[in-house]
Formats: sequence, C-alpha cells, structure tokens
Amino acid sequence: MSDPPRHERRPVTFWEERSASREVRRRLFGHGPFAVWMTGLSGAGRSTLAFALEASLLSDGVAVHVLDGDNVRHGLNRDLGFSPADRRENIPRVAEVTHLMNEAGLVVITSLMSPYRADRQMARSIIGPDRFIEGHVVTALEVCERRDAKGLYSRARAGQITDFTGIGCPYEVPDRPDVVMDTDGIPVSDALRTPLAPILARLGQAAPTSG
Ligand code: ADX
Repeated sequence: MSDPPRHERRPVTFWEERSASREVRRRLFGHGPFAVWMTGLSGAGRSTLAFALEASLLSDGVAVHVLDGDNVRHGLNRDLGFSPADRRENIPRVAEVTHLMNEAGLVVITSLMSPYRADRQMARSIIGPDRFIEGHVVTALEVCERRDAKGLYSRARAGQITDFTGIGCPYEVPDRPDVVMDTDGIPVSDALRTPLAPILARLGQAAPTSG
C-alpha cells in the first residue's frame, strides 16, 4: 500500500492549545491574518510585485511578510529540486509555514511558481480557504522569455535545464484566481493596484483613489 500524501500523514503527537487567542493578536496588529498566494511563470514579476506589495503594506502599518520561493529554497527547502514530486513537497512546506505565520497573526504573501493546480489546491486547504487569496501573475511566456532576467530560459532552450516550467514542464493556469496581475509594459505601482483592493478590503481599509 502506498503512503498517504505528505500533508495527510499524522505522527503520534498531541495538539497543545495554549496560544493566546486569535482575537488578542487581531487587536495587537489591528487586522486579521490571511495569505496572498502569488503564482505565475519564472520572470512573470511575482517576486517584484510581492516585495512591492509588502513594502506598501508595511508602510501602512500592516504586519506582513513575504515567503519567496527562491529564498525558501536556500534554507528550509534546500533539499528540493524541480521534479513534480519535489515541487509537490515544496508547496505544502511553504503552505504550512504560511499557516503558522497566519496563526501568529501575520499577513503572508507567497511568491512561488506553483505551476500545478492540485498543489495550489493543497496549499489552499492547508492555509484555509477563508484565509487564501489566489493571485495569478499572468505575464505571458514570450514576455518572460524575452526578459530572461536569470538566463534560465536560454539554458532551458539549449537543453541544459530539462524540467523548466513553460518549456519542458507545464504551467497549469488557475481556473478562478481572486486577483489577476500583469506586468507586461505596466509599472509596478499600477500592477499593484489590482491585488491591493481585495487586500485592503480584508484589512478593513479603503483603497486609495489615486496616486
Ligand atoms: S515551484 O515550481 O516549486 O513553485 P519555486 O517558485 O519554488 O518553484 O522556484 C522557482 C524558481 O526557481 C524560478 O523563479 C527560477 O528562478 C528557479 N528555477 C531553477 N530551475 C528551475 C526549473 N527547472 N523550473 C522552474 N524554475 C526553476
């Protein structure tokens, strides 16, 4: 019999419920926790948008932190590569960390390619559907490839990387993302307005009308 999926394995341990209540944290930070899960191709502008969004929210006094896929792969997920199985492990680990940070009262913005629908669905169920905003950075493959900021597309075209998303591996477009962002010819400050609106609504703040 095969092992159950990773996120369904249960060790023999017991849940300790001693944490301060969510309401205390909500009062402390002045807002509740949730996650903005940003998905999109390499070079789509996910991380640029995620960090710009973080800076904008921090300056408004929001307790927010970015979990960036590339950065997390330098530490927690340094043992993982890019096979479908490794990506399937990458996503729930980041989702679990997101959940923990949400429980600590923080808003979390993740920037992971997360190319498979089933994996994003898993992230949604780990984080909790009521705390999960799916943001799709839709910048087209041709644009990402033209940018080729890390030189990875040319290496993939040259056959030096075989499992590169968009070239040798599929990217499964979200069916019904909560937010859609494009960065093709659009300044970051403008691209940010789309995700800001639902985020500010969650925070109970009004969206800026201009600027
Ligand atoms: S995910 O598919 O598991 O969600 P993740 O967001 O953590 O990916 O990492 C993607 C980043 O790793 C890309 O932005 C790119 O810089 C780098 N990378 C290196 N090799 C690959 C590859 N084969 N496929 C996709 N991204 C890769």
